[in-house]
Amino acid sequence: MATRGVKTLDFGGTKEIVYERADFPKAKLHQIFKDDTFAVMGYGTQGRAQALNLRDNGLKVILGLREGPSFELAKEDGFVPGENLFSIPEAAQKASVIMYLLSDAGQKTGWDTIKPFVTTGKTLYFSHGFSIVFSDQTGVVPPPDVDVILAAPKGSGTSVRRLFLEGKGINGSIAVWQDHSGKAHERACAMGVAIGCGYLYETTFQKEVLSDLTGERGILMGAIQGLFRAQYDVLRSKGHSPSEAFNETVEEATQSLYPLIAENGMDWMYANCSTTAQRGALDWWRPFYDASLPVFQKLYHSVETGEETRRSLESNSRKDYKQQLEEELRQIRDSEMWRAGQTVRSLRPERQSK
Ligand SMILES: NC(=O)c1ccc[n+]([C@@H]2O[C@H](COP(=O)([O-])OP(=O)(O)OC[C@H]3O[C@@H](n4cnc5c(N)ncnc54)[C@H](OP(=O)(O)O)[C@@H]3O)[C@@H](O)[C@H]2O)c1
Repeated sequence: MATRGVKTLDFGGTKEIVYERADFPKAKLHQIFKDDTFAVMGYGTQGRAQALNLRDNGLKVILGLREGPSFELAKEDGFVPGENLFSIPEAAQKASVIMYLLSDAGQKTGWDTIKPFVTTGKTLYFSHGFSIVFSDQTGVVPPPDVDVILAAPKGSGTSVRRLFLEGKGINGSIAVWQDHSGKAHERACAMGVAIGCGYLYETTFQKEVLSDLTGERGILMGAIQGLFRAQYDVLRSKGHSPSEAFNETVEEATQSLYPLIAENGMDWMYANCSTTAQRGALDWWRPFYDASLPVFQKLYHSVETGEETRRSLESNSRKDYKQQLEEELRQIRDSEMWRAGQTVRSLRPERQSK
C-alpha cells in the first residue's frame, strides 16, 4: 500500500485520510494495471470522460456499447468497432475490469447480460453505489470471487474531462464493497486517479449513494432551481422586469458570488460584502435554514428508504423514458426565467466577441 503523500487531514475538527494524484504517478498506475483491460460499459457523460481519461493515461481501454447514439459518439472519438469498440457482452468478456457505467436504470436491465462475464478474479467497478446498495430493487448481486470497487467523481462527467485536460483534477470518493484480491483498496484509489480525480476521500457504497442522491436532489440541482425560481417569481410578482429579476437571482450569483465562495468560502463572502448586505444576510440565513431543514430531512428519508431509487428505476426503465424526461426538461427550458437567462447570457461581453 502506497503511503507516500497519503495524508490525514483535519476537516473542521474530524481527521480523515485523503489520497492524492501525487500518490499514484503514471508509472505506478501502469505498474498496478499492467495486466488489465478496462471495459467501459456506457458512454454517457461519465463513461465518455472516464474512458477518454484512461486512454490518455495510456491504459488499455475498450468500450462495451449497444448500437445507437453512444456508439456513434465513440466512433467520432476514435474508438474502432472490432478493435476497441464492442457490444456489451463482448467487451465484458474481454475485460479484467468491468466499468459499469450504463445509466443506473440501464445497470438493472443490463445485469443479466453482464453477469455471466463477471468471473473469478475480475474487478467490477461503479461510479455510484446505487445498483449495489439497492440490490433488492436492481438485482445487481456480484459473485463473491471478484473485487467490487467504486470511484465516484464528485461532479459532472463534463468537468471530469475538462479538468483533466487542463491538468487539474476533480475530487472524488472511493469505496470497496468486496475485496477478493486483497488489493481492492489500492486498485480503487489508483482507478480514481486514472480516471482523472485530483484527490480522493474514503466512503462506503452506502454513504456514497445516500449523500449523492440527496445532494443532486437538494443543493446541487433541485433545491437551487427551487430557490432561484421562488425568488424570481416574487420579484416578478412585484413588478420587476425579467432582466432585473434574473440578474438579481441567477446572474449575480453565478458570475460574481459563487466563484468567490468557491475560491474563499461563505465565511469570506460574508466578511467581504457591504455592511448592508452583511446585516441582511446575517439576519436571513436562519429563516431559510428553518424553512429548508424539514425539506432536506424529508428528502434524506426518501433516499434512505429506497423511495428515490424506486422512482428513478421505474421512471427511467420505461420505453419512452427519454421522451418523458425531455417533456419535463422542456418545461424548465421554456420557463420565463431561463428564457430570460438566455438573453442575459448572450450579453456577456466574452460571448459577444465570438
Ligand atoms: N452524470 C454524471 O456526471 C455522474 C457523476 C457521478 C457518477 N455518475 C454515475 O455514473 C454512471 C453513468 O452515468 P452517466 O450519467 O454517464 O450515464 P447516463 O447518461 O445516465 O447513461 C448513458 C449510457 O447508458 C447507456 N444505456 C442506458 N440504458 C441502457 C441499456 N438498457 N442498455 C445499454 N446501454 C444503456 C446509454 O446508451 P445509449 O446512448 O445507447 O442510450 C449511454 O451510453 C451512473 O452510475 C451514474 O450514477 C454519473
